[in-house]
Parts: sequence; C-alpha cells; structure tokens
Amino acid sequence: MAELAGAWWKTGVIYEIYPRSFADSNGDGIGDLGGVIAHLDHLEWLGVRGIWLSPVSPSPNADWGYDVADYCNVDPDFGTLEALDELIAGSRRRGIEILLDLVPNHTSDQHPWFIDSRASRTSSHRDWYVWADPRPDGSRPNNWVAQFGGAAWTLDPRTDQYYLHNFTAAQPDLNWWNRDVRKAFDEIIEFWWDRGVAGFRIDVCNMIVKDDELRDNPPATDADAVVEQIWGQRFEFNANRPEVHEILKHWRTRADSYDPPRVLLGETDVHHLAMIPPFYGNGSDELHLAFSLPWLHSEFDAETLRSVVEATERGLPEGAWPVWTGSNLDTSRLATRWAAGHPGKLRCALLMLLTLRGTPVLYQGDEIGLTDGEMTKAALRDPIGLQYWPHASGRDPERTPMPWADGPGRGFTSVDAEPWLPISTPDHCDVAGQIGDPDSVLTFTRDLIALRATHPDLHSGAYVSLPSPPGTWAWRRGETFTTILNLSDVSVELEIAPGTVAIGTRRLRDGERVDRALTLDPWEGASVQTT
Ligand code: NOJ
Repeated sequence: MAELAGAWWKTGVIYEIYPRSFADSNGDGIGDLGGVIAHLDHLEWLGVRGIWLSPVSPSPNADWGYDVADYCNVDPDFGTLEALDELIAGSRRRGIEILLDLVPNHTSDQHPWFIDSRASRTSSHRDWYVWADPRPDGSRPNNWVAQFGGAAWTLDPRTDQYYLHNFTAAQPDLNWWNRDVRKAFDEIIEFWWDRGVAGFRIDVCNMIVKDDELRDNPPATDADAVVEQIWGQRFEFNANRPEVHEILKHWRTRADSYDPPRVLLGETDVHHLAMIPPFYGNGSDELHLAFSLPWLHSEFDAETLRSVVEATERGLPEGAWPVWTGSNLDTSRLATRWAAGHPGKLRCALLMLLTLRGTPVLYQGDEIGLTDGEMTKAALRDPIGLQYWPHASGRDPERTPMPWADGPGRGFTSVDAEPWLPISTPDHCDVAGQIGDPDSVLTFTRDLIALRATHPDLHSGAYVSLPSPPGTWAWRRGETFTTILNLSDVSVELEIAPGTVAIGTRRLRDGERVDRALTLDPWEGASVQTT
C-alpha cells in the first residue's frame, strides 16, 4: 500500500497521445512513433508522468486502430516494434511511463482469429467470437444495436450465422466466456508488461462480457442515458454484465504481481455516475483508474461540475482514486466544448482539472488550448462522420494534427506533405508560438503541473467543497490549498482563508496576498496557498 500511496499515476499527470496526429517524423503526413520520440523533451519539460498512447498495433483502420489485426506488433504507419521499445526506454529515462491502449472487446475482421473463426462452424477459433443462429423467421438473434448505430449483428453467408459487433461490422466482438480468449489476452498483456509498458488504458472495459443467453435489451426510458434514448434501448445485456468484474480482478492480480505494479486505466463507457464505482472493486482489487463520461460530458457550469465531483468523492470505495479529463480522441476538445474559445473559461478548465483530487488526463493540444479542427466532407476519415455527415461530423475535429510551429505543415509534418487530416488551427496557436511567453496557455499549464507536483496537498490532499456564491465553486485540498473558480459573467467576492495566490488564471495575480476575501473577474480562477 505504501507504494500505491505515492504511485506515479496518482501524483502525476497523464497525457493522451493520438499518434496519427501527434508528429510525423518521415514526411508521409501521418504521425508516428519517431514523432513521439522526437517530442519527448517537450513532454518532459511539460512535466507529465505518463503517456496513454492510443493504439499503434497493425490495423486496417476501419476504426483507426481500434480494429486490431495483431496485438503484439506495431503498424508500419507508426514504425516498428524496435521504435516502440525505443520510445518506452526514452520516456522512462525522462521519468515518463507508457500506457498502451488494450482493445479486448473486439478485433479487426482481418485478425487471423476471426479469419479462422468465420471459415467454418467447426474451426478452432469459431467460439472465440459471438456467433448465433438467425431466429426462425431469419431475423437477427436479438435486438442489440451497435454503438455507432444500426444492428449489432451481421449475417455471414459462409456459415449462415450472425456474428456480433458492438461497433462497426469490421470489429467482431470476442467471446469472453471462452477460456482460450482469456488466456490469449493474458499472453498479450504479459508480452507488453515484460517489455516495460507501465499499464493499459482498456477500451470499453465495461462491455467485454455479454449476456450468455443473448437476451434482448429492454427499451430505454427517460431515466436512461441520452445515447440509450437515441438508440431506443438500455445497454443491459450487450454490456455492463456483472461477470466483467471477475476479469478485471484477474488482470489486477497480475498487474500487482509486477514490480513496479502495472496500472489499469479503464474506459468505463457508462453514462451514470453510480455505475462507475463498482469498476474500482473494493478500492484496490479492480481498476486503478476509471474514466468518467458523466464528468467529461458535463456542462461547464459551477453547480454541475461541483455536484459531479461531490458525488464522485462520495461514491468511490475507500482507497479509490478519481480521474479527471476534459478532452479525448472521441470528444470535442475542452477548448471548444467547455471554453468555446473563451480564454478565461479555458484557463478555469485547466486550473480545475489540475487541482482536483485525482489524476488529470490531458489530451494532446489541451496544453496550448487547441480547439477542434474544421472538417469538410472530403476530409472525413472517422466512420461515424462518414456515416452521419452533415448531421454529425464524427470524431475527426478532435483528431486533427497537433500544431508545433507556424508555417506549412505546422511542424506536424514536412512542408510539402499532405497531413492525413487537415490542420485548421489559427496561426498563433502552436507550441513554438507559446513556449517562451510567460502569459501563454502553455506556460500556464506547465506551471500548474509543476505546482501540483511540488505540493503534496495538491496531488494527494483530501477534497473538501467550500461554500461559495452561485456561479462559483471553491474547494480545499488538504490543509494548504484552496481553488476558487468564478464560472459566471459577473465579478464576485469570495471569502477564503488568508494566504497567497499560488497561481491565477490571470498571471499578474500570482503572489498576491489574500487576507480574507478575493475578488474574481468573470471567468477567473485562482489557487491560493493558505498560510
Ligand atoms: C472507444 C475508443 O476510444 C473509440 O475511439 C473506439 O471507436 C471505440 N472504443 C471502439 O473501440
């Protein structure tokens, strides 16, 4: 337990890299491992302690890496296994750990397991996937819908059975009731942990076990999540089955048997706060960290955010550690969604993420206030965007390339290369343009990360909500820090314990002495070190 108390993933900040859009080292317009290695100095300077690397395994890219064709290798678009080893070693030298993205719910339809599985009803991998007969009238085995819309079943004429896919038809779901599937994943996990990978972000880890009787999902009600209401059914039997906890416990035991223990960061794709705590088990026997979609999708207003944090703090089992994120590869970036391009809102969001109790997970570009990219139909790559344009643009806007510098290619790729997704970032918004500027978002983010690392109360002190006027939110961390946010359009005066502004969203307030009250402008925040 002593190790866990100060574990790097608790005290440090994790940074998500979407490698295809991070940095291109060979001028083909696609980000790669060489690009990540080339920017390790930036990440060390920024002060992050861990990288969650979105999938780099070989993939036909029906869902951009989340359709894996070989779990123990690297896609040539990104480089080689040796380059990944180099990345692991290079980042560890800088005190940064690598978490890979594990995709256990489904494989690519090009994975050799599925190719064998679909070949005949008697093939050795047949039962590795979820196959079912049509109903007597020839219709699908049940009513399950895929997460991207449409039926979750596709009839395979070769063997006249349907196979299950909770995402695209090119992503068949594995059958986790099959012991050989479990064994195969034990080997995959150990392959990477033995190579020095510090843990995994686990894709839709709430979904991997399906109802063994394949019962119909019940109709959605007003109380169900928006996505369930849109698709008309509650995800009760195609996901969120109780048996998944047995698997998470097994992985946790294996993670704990390593020295140092490996880390499990789950994508808990659930939409009610109350559904998250069970994924932590008893607080130390399932996931170390469980992403919170209710938090990610919260409106950026003080009352909502405060109530999500308070409910999270109340609901977690003892010893469990929250995780806070404002953007990721599937969600509009915080600079757009929460801040709508407003500089004060953006800084309040960063101050909030980096001074709550729990692990902040930043998405590449958050540190410079990168907004979503603009998309045209011709530029779309994401299967969701391709299917629903113009009603929805899909996830390409949050996946556009990272701007490192000014000029053609923006330092992401070479000047004459065509980036795989367009770069529409405004001229002033890039790393080179912000790095030396004491008042930039980048400097603010770096200073916040450093502050958090330096003061134990900021990373590990208890969270205590403090009373504050409507439109504002104040909390204490341990005995020494108070963060106050004015998330409203009017100035407010807040009473707080005496101290000194350690960092303010308006940097000219850093070091300001606070006696008993602090007046904040609209959309201004500060973290005050009490004395
Ligand atoms: C969640 C991933 O983040 C998303 O990008 C992907 O499409 C689905 N899981 C399916 O793997």
